[in-house]
Amino acid sequence: MTNVIDELKQLKSQELDAGLVFSGTASGRMIKGYSSSSSFTPEVDVDYLFHHSSRDVVVWLMDASDPLYVFGPAGSGKTSLIKQLSAKLNYPVFEVNGHGRLEYPELVGHLTVDNGNMKFQYGPLALSMKFGGLFLLNEIDLLDPSTAIGLNGILDGEPLCIPENGGEVIMPHPSFRFAATANTNGGNDDTGLYQGTLRQNLAFMDRFWLCEIGYPTPEAEKELLSRKVSSLPEDIRAKMVELANAARKLFMGEADGNYLDTIEVTFSTRTLIRWADLTIRFQPLARQGIQPVTYALDRAIGYRACQETRTVLHELAQRIFPCDEQQQDHI
Ligand SMILES: Nc1ncnc2c1ncn2[C@@H]1O[C@H](COP(=O)(O)OP(=O)(O)OP(=O)(O)O)[C@@H](O)[C@H]1O
Ligand SMILES: [Mg+2]
Repeated sequence: MTNVIDELKQLKSQELDAGLVFSGTASGRMIKGYSSSSSFTPEVDVDYLFHHSSRDVVVWLMDASDPLYVFGPAGSGKTSLIKQLSAKLNYPVFEVNGHGRLEYPELVGHLTVDNGNMKFQYGPLALSMKFGGLFLLNEIDLLDPSTAIGLNGILDGEPLCIPENGGEVIMPHPSFRFAATANTNGGNDDTGLYQGTLRQNLAFMDRFWLCEIGYPTPEAEKELLSRKVSSLPEDIRAKMVELANAARKLFMGEADGNYLDTIEVTFSTRTLIRWADLTIRFQPLARQGIQPVTYALDRAIGYRACQETRTVLHELAQRIFPCDEQQQDHI
């Protein structure tokens, strides 16, 4: 812990040119970052694609402001967007995943025994408030609303008091940021698919700046696949994106003429990347007469769905990928 604290104490915040950081072209608009990365800075994903969803979060990062609540469907890129933006700015990120039994000490810290002495060990919220950095609370809508509301003071910019540490009062560091992600907007889960999420207290939700992140546009997802799985031919990647979007429409109940029923699984960006990756990995099966695209589709998503949905996914695949394309062994 001492090493961690020493490292955090040495971090130097710095104003960076936002244009230079995100697009490589100077814009004159400054954004707060750090002069160098630390062991708390997320690793840069060189294939990461900053698309239109980044806009709100970049604007949020530019100036100290209300805490941010990013919501959207599973696997749409909420957590990775915040972490990749932070990585670009060398921002330390203190990440926690919310759950129904999460209690305050998990965030603030607790007393431990160190060489026979009692010592307070700071939790992620305390570290980010004391030394600066982004506190990222994923799946915040899983929190018990009465636990969540205990954060109201922090969300209002008030200091953190730690009675267990001799009554220490931590004033929020100028580089402290609070961001949360969730699948629901803190209201209700209309779909019934995000089990465990809870309707949050209205006054708690009122403290956040909200940002909705849907799935990237087809163009963005094609670009994303070209970066992540460049060895797949372009037309196959485009068809994968087409199928993912067709499945999303069915999930949203937007029948496409061929299917009147909705399906119960959605096709996340995470699933799309997995499908493309598995297609490459199962490509040698083509020599045994097995279609890698459909084979990988089942393993990426189909097996999670009911039998009828799996059939719908197979039919979509057959419609979008003519048979000979699925069997090609030059993928
Ligand atoms: N723009 C993007 N560029 C590159 N990869 C992306 C992009 N968006 C999403 N991904 C990838 O998709 C996967 C899912 O992203 P992420 O975990 O951020 O989703 P999420 O919205 O936080 O999901 P959940 O709702 O399950 O928490 C990750 O592996 C991430 O790297
Ligand atoms: Mg997430």
